[in-house]
Amino acid sequence: MPFPQERPRRLRRTEALRALVRETELAPSDLVWPLFAAPGQRVRNPVKTMPGVFQLSVDELVAEAQAGYEAGVRSVILFGIPTRKDATGTSAWDDGEPVPRAVRALKKDVPGLVVMTDVCMCEYTDHGHCGVLKPARVGAPGTDLVVDNDLTLPLLAKEAVAHAKAGADVVAPSDMMDGRVGAIRKALDESGYQDVPIMSYAAKFAGAFYGPFRDAAESAPREGAGIPKDRKGYQMDPANVREALREVALDVAEGADLLMVKPAVPYLDIVRAVKERFELPLAAYHVSGEYAMIKAAAERGWIDEDRVAVETMLCCRRAGADLVLTYYAKHVAGLLSGVR
Ligand code: PBG
Ligand code: ZN
Repeated sequence: MPFPQERPRRLRRTEALRALVRETELAPSDLVWPLFAAPGQRVRNPVKTMPGVFQLSVDELVAEAQAGYEAGVRSVILFGIPTRKDATGTSAWDDGEPVPRAVRALKKDVPGLVVMTDVCMCEYTDHGHCGVLKPARVGAPGTDLVVDNDLTLPLLAKEAVAHAKAGADVVAPSDMMDGRVGAIRKALDESGYQDVPIMSYAAKFAGAFYGPFRDAAESAPREGAGIPKDRKGYQMDPANVREALREVALDVAEGADLLMVKPAVPYLDIVRAVKERFELPLAAYHVSGEYAMIKAAAERGWIDEDRVAVETMLCCRRAGADLVLTYYAKHVAGLLSGVR
């Protein structure tokens, strides 16, 4: 027998052969584009730490989503920069704020588009946490505050119902409170929105990759006496995979329709583990810090941005993600539908 006995290279000889045996496909319709809805008119505020990403007033956001749609992006997820913030985030369910306004405008002007909304409190609270703050232990000495789980649930439910009422196709809670999928499901059902699916940020890790997003959404935890300085008290420890599976199982039991793992690339082992155990559609969120890293290297001319971006999204799909949330959605969709 001549050496080597096996020659996998035979099937790599031409692009047509490679396409024939390719195991994973990446299509523009797999991508979800995060957009930031801001007050005002004709507003396009560039986000310094995320080149190519803007805070957009509703008119500009609709134009942007339309352009994405034409490039093949069929879904967006909206985040809000509200006109006002307070301790309990009451602007989160205010119909006159940018997210509900953007939802209504998108459903009218880009009817084929899937409009998802992020459901969380951190953009709407003056302290920047994803829920309501309460003294850590009533009656105990000290000024430490914690995010109170059960006080937060009804607020998230109100926000989700407000988004559904505006016409959101999917609501996506990102707060990591225990029981929020069940609370939101119940509130949606009781309000007549049985058909609105929940995409749960089921396994969301408290890491350092969300920094640029917090510039974009102006949602970083504020510094102040007793205010927790990070989100480690509710988002997951990056060291844990078994706990991620438990979080996912709870959300499935509570009625989640789609699941998400976040961030994406450093957590593809979690994506794979979730994919192997659960049947629900699975999303990976290629987050702001991951985007910024590619942008920064590309700006220095150190990597080929287009190729790295496409490869990154493909690798998320290969690991098991059915859909990928990415700030590159429009750009990658354009690359995929152009020359390949
Ligand atoms: C809100 C939320 C965050 C992201 C999505 N929803 C920020 C956070 O948890 O601090 C991060 C998205 C990104 O970094 O691109 N809870
Ligand atoms: Zn939040």
